[in-house]
Amino acid sequence: MAGIPHDHYEPKTSGEKWLNKRLPILGLAYDTLMIPTPKNLNWMWIWGIVLTFCLVLQIITGIVLAMHYTPHVDEAFASIEHIMRNVNGGYMLRYIHMNGASLFFVAVYAHIFRGLYYGSYKAPREVTWIIGMIIYLAMMGTAFMGYVLPWGQMSFWGATVITGLFGAIPGIGEPIQTWLLGGPAVDNATLNRFFSLHYLLPFVIAGLVAVHIWAFHTTGNNNPTGVEVRRTSKEEAEKDTLPFWPYFVIKDLFALAVIMVVFWAIVGFMPNYLGHPDNYIEANALATPAHIVPEWYFLPFYAILRAITFDVLFLDAKFLGVLAMFGAIAVMALAPWLDTSSVRSGRYRPMFKWWFALLVVDFFVLMWAGAMPAEGLVPTISLIGTIYWFAYFLVVLPLLGVIEKPLPRPATIEEDFAAHYPAKSNAAGTTSDATPAE
Ligand code: HEM
Repeated sequence: MAGIPHDHYEPKTSGEKWLNKRLPILGLAYDTLMIPTPKNLNWMWIWGIVLTFCLVLQIITGIVLAMHYTPHVDEAFASIEHIMRNVNGGYMLRYIHMNGASLFFVAVYAHIFRGLYYGSYKAPREVTWIIGMIIYLAMMGTAFMGYVLPWGQMSFWGATVITGLFGAIPGIGEPIQTWLLGGPAVDNATLNRFFSLHYLLPFVIAGLVAVHIWAFHTTGNNNPTGVEVRRTSKEEAEKDTLPFWPYFVIKDLFALAVIMVVFWAIVGFMPNYLGHPDNYIEANALATPAHIVPEWYFLPFYAILRAITFDVLFLDAKFLGVLAMFGAIAVMALAPWLDTSSVRSGRYRPMFKWWFALLVVDFFVLMWAGAMPAEGLVPTISLIGTIYWFAYFLVVLPLLGVIEKPLPRPATIEEDFAAHYPAKSNAAGTTSDATPAE
């Protein structure tokens, strides 16, 4: 697919021309900032910027935390208390980093479900989607290892349970587990390597984000209609798009400001709300907590992990749970090839809408089930939730494309925009004070 036709950077001054011949960096910045962006993007397209903000925030606060943190089992817990009590602004730095991780996951789930609803994963954006999935896995690894660093009870026991999963792989499980831990149990070697990797991975994520952005700049953004920007001429493309700067930069910054109000309220007034009180007790290998629960953002997949309570043939339940957990992410990564519908956006798919809504409900039910002790009805609910998760990707998406009759779609983005903002569109680019039709 050819790129969206638009004006490119022309160096004007002699200084610019000199630099452009040697390093066309101004051209790259200009083309990135002025990229034509579908003018009908709604508020679900803000999460990418929120994610970028979170990544920067986590890297900056993390680097300063690392200046005062000691990755040793005898000192880690005390060094966190030292940060909280003695380091100037240390408690704030830690609370931002802790809650920043939560905001990062709120944003990534909104971003992923946006993609699932509007079919952003479909051709030609499969590479953007797959890189996104790799980023998501790297985020999970980073958050998991970060949670071990304060060396509290949940850090220690969470690490013990999760690394224990690898031990469930038949035959090779135990050597893999020992290799991951750097010894027979979670100990100093584990804490050290987790610290090292927790510091490294965000930079790997930053590199992946650059490729992610490169990929969707190549294909152009998707939009709520799923209809592509016209590319036959610059004039036509301009009817469907607006430059990223200033239109979307200002919109994204406004959304970020609103989200920041909530974020700072949590950091300032209830910083431990999302955490577990047991992590303020130093790790003790001789005292297992009553319930070992991961952070909220892992709960749906934790529920899937615990959903299988029975052996199947020669495969034991624990190993099947591990397969189900990784499989749940793998089927999501394969969505571009499992969805057979010729229509991209869920807006024009009357049956899909309901199945998708059920997937969102399923996600929250699994999150709840992951937080509960695995007794009573909880394992059954987890199993039903797990079955639906797989069925959505492996059965519903392939079948709907065949049996569903899609609704009529607008022919162009311009048409969709005009239907929402008639007065603005009539004025052909000039602004008016008309209120939106919706
Ligand atoms: C650090 C994490 C991530 C960052 C910083 C990031 C950044 C962005 C940005 C800035 C956009 C442009 C549109 C928008 O703002 O929504 C975007 C689009 C997209 N992202 Fe992400 N993303 C991340 C993770 C993910 C993940 C985990 C997925 C899911 C697999 C994903 C899938 C997509 C897709 C399919 C698009 C194209 C949609 C479109 O262009 O309209 N991203 N991403």
